[in-house]
Amino acid sequence: MTSLLHLDASARPGRSGIDPHGSHSRRLSARFVEQWQKARPGDRILYRDLGQHPPHPVSGEWIHAAFTKPEAREPWMHDVLAESDALVDELLEADLIVAGVPMYNFGVPAGFKAYIDNIVRVGRTFGFDRSRQGLPYWPMLTDMHKRLVVLGSRGDYGYAPGERMAQANHVEPHIRTVFGYLGIEDVHGIAVEYDEFGGEHLQVSLDQAERRIGALVESLATPQKTSRNIVAPSHD
Ligand SMILES: Cc1cc2nc3c(=O)[nH]c(=O)nc-3n(C[C@H](O)[C@H](O)[C@H](O)COP(=O)(O)O)c2cc1C
Repeated sequence: MTSLLHLDASARPGRSGIDPHGSHSRRLSARFVEQWQKARPGDRILYRDLGQHPPHPVSGEWIHAAFTKPEAREPWMHDVLAESDALVDELLEADLIVAGVPMYNFGVPAGFKAYIDNIVRVGRTFGFDRSRQGLPYWPMLTDMHKRLVVLGSRGDYGYAPGERMAQANHVEPHIRTVFGYLGIEDVHGIAVEYDEFGGEHLQVSLDQAERRIGALVESLATPQKTSRNIVAPSHD
């Protein structure tokens, strides 16, 4: 049985195609999960809405607590880290993470950044030892065979590698860097573009993204097949 962790990060609560002013990234992530459930009905799905219920941003107390060795922590430190611990537990349990993540000002939404800051935890998801030979830090989730699917949406177009706005895309490259730092290297990405243009361009992009989601579900849901992939838009 696979454990799938479904995340959404859009500030828009509804889904495009169903709700007025709904979110495309929520539409894509819901589609992925619905198709996954059809292909693998016995799998466990856990949902977390980072857009509607963002985790607390890290604070000075959080940093103090996180960098205090567990055996030396005072009770207040455990309290401060409780939310982060719960998020890390969910991530550790997940075999497949499916994240709907829009582009806000060329980066990830604040709720998703808060999530990242809470799951990058010394001693839980990465190791750190100043006295270590070579690099003082190392990923702790390597060899756990975790996979990540990033389903994005952007108002403009041309953010894929090699395209006109590629250098301004700090969404998928950032997510790949962070999850790679933890040891999750198997990352797949599909994005809708042209939200601000609307009309036919947007419809074509949505159609292509949905077709690609179907193919990705088929590929990932079949145990024998594995595919390492790149983050690319839906309109190539
Ligand atoms: C606060 C904010 C910032 C945005 N910044 C960008 C941006 O930098 N580049 C871009 O192409 N689109 C930008 N957009 C447009 C969104 O990426 C687009 O509307 C996308 O569809 C939002 O995702 P959603 O449909 O899942 O809510 C921005 C939208 C908002 C609300």
